Amino acid sequence: MIKKEWVDNGFINEPVGKEVNLKSEIRKLCEEKQAVIMAHYYTEGVIQDIADFVGDSLALAQKAAKTKARIIVMCGVHFMGETAKILCPDKKVLVPDLNATCSLAESCPAEDFARFVHEHPGYTVISYVNTTAATKAVTDVVVTSSNARQIVESFPKDEKIIFGPDRNLGSYINSITGRDMLLWDGACHVHERFSAGKILELKKAFPEAKVLAHPECKDTVLKVADVIGSTAALLKYAAQSETTAFIVVTESGILHEMQKTCPDKKFIPVPPEGNACGCNECNYMRLITLEKLYNTLKYEWPEITVPQEVAEKAVRPIHSMLDISEKLGL
Ligand code: 13P
Repeated sequence: MIKKEWVDNGFINEPVGKEVNLKSEIRKLCEEKQAVIMAHYYTEGVIQDIADFVGDSLALAQKAAKTKARIIVMCGVHFMGETAKILCPDKKVLVPDLNATCSLAESCPAEDFARFVHEHPGYTVISYVNTTAATKAVTDVVVTSSNARQIVESFPKDEKIIFGPDRNLGSYINSITGRDMLLWDGACHVHERFSAGKILELKKAFPEAKVLAHPECKDTVLKVADVIGSTAALLKYAAQSETTAFIVVTESGILHEMQKTCPDKKFIPVPPEGNACGCNECNYMRLITLEKLYNTLKYEWPEITVPQEVAEKAVRPIHSMLDISEKLGL
């Protein structure tokens, strides 16, 4: 039984005794309950290591859509759990801490976005996956940073498009496709904190290093990058490139996989603006801990729910994304 005082904060804070071997108990619970753990590359390394599957936003959605498990534990932020629930309404989807939200999703309240869409009749609405289910419900096609360019380009050149909520990703896609999409004014609080100045300083200190940046960064930052790509694209580039040092301009959780795949290469995290050193971390992703994951599996709580009428509308643009991605081999 879950005690009320353990659940008030959106996660179960029942103290876990020191005698509990969290890693083996988590794996045991997964087996007993036919649960699968999925994690984003921005979570702590220890979470990525215990997960059955680690991926970027696109891969997590693709994997969730196909899993045979009874329970999906999504170690990431709330919209990732929602996307999995919308794709798998019959499965139980758990996120170990409901406070793990996303600044991009928050920057695009569904009612405001719906009003904006209503004010622009004749526009096709493309939304980044980092949105709430209610925002997806007023969207035509969802994209992630791994497929945004290709999905935008799948529309005729003169298609009138609204792109939300990330103004940085939207403006980057406009610049590489020659489109003039109407952009929602949202941003990711982690990627916005990078500054070109800090990257140039690091470039001086590590002249041999290539700068890898996520397209959620500001254009002043993207201008000093050697490679711009999604989480998956940056990981692939780092693994395949002959270069042995990289300045990494995205959430620092990605360094765990980079270092694991390329133990002989050097990966230098960029601190947020105003900080002399350190990493740029998403405080929401870091809410996912082994203790919360263990308690979540044990009590099967907190569970993600999406009102049926919202889910019925939101599932269409997500399926459109998955279908186009499959056709394009992404
Ligand atoms: P990708 O996983 O698509 O690279 O996006 C990163 C992100 O914003 C996760 O919240």
